[in-house]
Amino acid sequence: MKVLGVSGSPIKNSNTDRALKLALESTDLETEFIKLKDYTIAPCQACLGCIKTNRCVIEDDGILLAEKAKEADALIIAGFTPYSSLDARTKAFIERLYPLRHTHGYMAGKPGGAIITCAVPADNEMLPPACDFGVNAIKFYMMEEGMEFVGEVRVNGNVPCIKCGHGDECKMTGIKMLYGPDATVASVGINTFEDQTEAMKAAVKLGKDIAEKLKSK
Ligand SMILES: Cc1cc2nc3c(=O)[nH]c(=O)nc-3n(C[C@H](O)[C@H](O)[C@H](O)COP(=O)(O)O)c2cc1C
Repeated sequence: MKVLGVSGSPIKNSNTDRALKLALESTDLETEFIKLKDYTIAPCQACLGCIKTNRCVIEDDGILLAEKAKEADALIIAGFTPYSSLDARTKAFIERLYPLRHTHGYMAGKPGGAIITCAVPADNEMLPPACDFGVNAIKFYMMEEGMEFVGEVRVNGNVPCIKCGHGDECKMTGIKMLYGPDATVASVGINTFEDQTEAMKAAVKLGKDIAEKLKSK
C-alpha cells in the first residue's frame, strides 16, 4: 500500500508541506512526498492525444507524475490559493492526470484527500472563500474521476505582505484587507501550522482515515 502526497506550495518547508507530511506520516503506510516546484509540468493542452494511449503527448515531468499517481493506492493533494483559486502548479498536476481517465479509470475507487492553505481567515465573510475554492477544486477532481474523497485539511496561511517588509506602509497591503483597518504586521504575526490544533488534528485524521479505507478494501 502506498500513499502519494503532492504539494503545490513553492515555499521551502511551507505550512502546506508540513501539513501534508503529517497526514502522510499518520497513515503508517509507505508514502512518497512530491514537491511540484522540483518538477516541470505544463497544463493539459486539451488535444485529446492521450485518449488511446493513456499517456500525455507533452514530454515533461507530467508523464512521471501521472505514472506515480497511477501506481499509488491513495492520493493526497495539497495546495494554496493565490488570488482565491487553486495555485497553478497543483492545478496543472491535476489536469495532467487526465490521461489516466479513459477508458480504464485508473484513479477510480482510490481514497483521496485535500489540504489547502489560505490566507483569508475563515470568519471573514467580506472576502472570497479562498479555502473553499481550493478544497473544492481538488474534491471535484477526485469525484469526477470516481475516487473516494475521504477528507480535507484547512490551514491558516500568511498573506505575503506579512513578510515583504512593507506590510505596514504599502497602500496595497493585504493585512488590513484581511484583518481590518487596525491590523499591523506585528498584531497579526506569522501563522504556523503547528500552532493550529484543529488543522493538526485534521491532518492526522486524514492520514488515519485513508489508511483505514485502504485496509478495508
Ligand atoms: C501572489 C499571491 C496571491 C495570494 N492571494 C491570496 C488570496 O487571494 N487568498 C488567499 O487566501 N491567500 C492568498 N495568498 C496567500 C497564500 O494562500 C499563502 O501564501 C499561503 O499561506 C502559502 O502557503 P504556504 O505557506 O504553505 O506556502 C496569495 C499568495 C500569493 C503569493
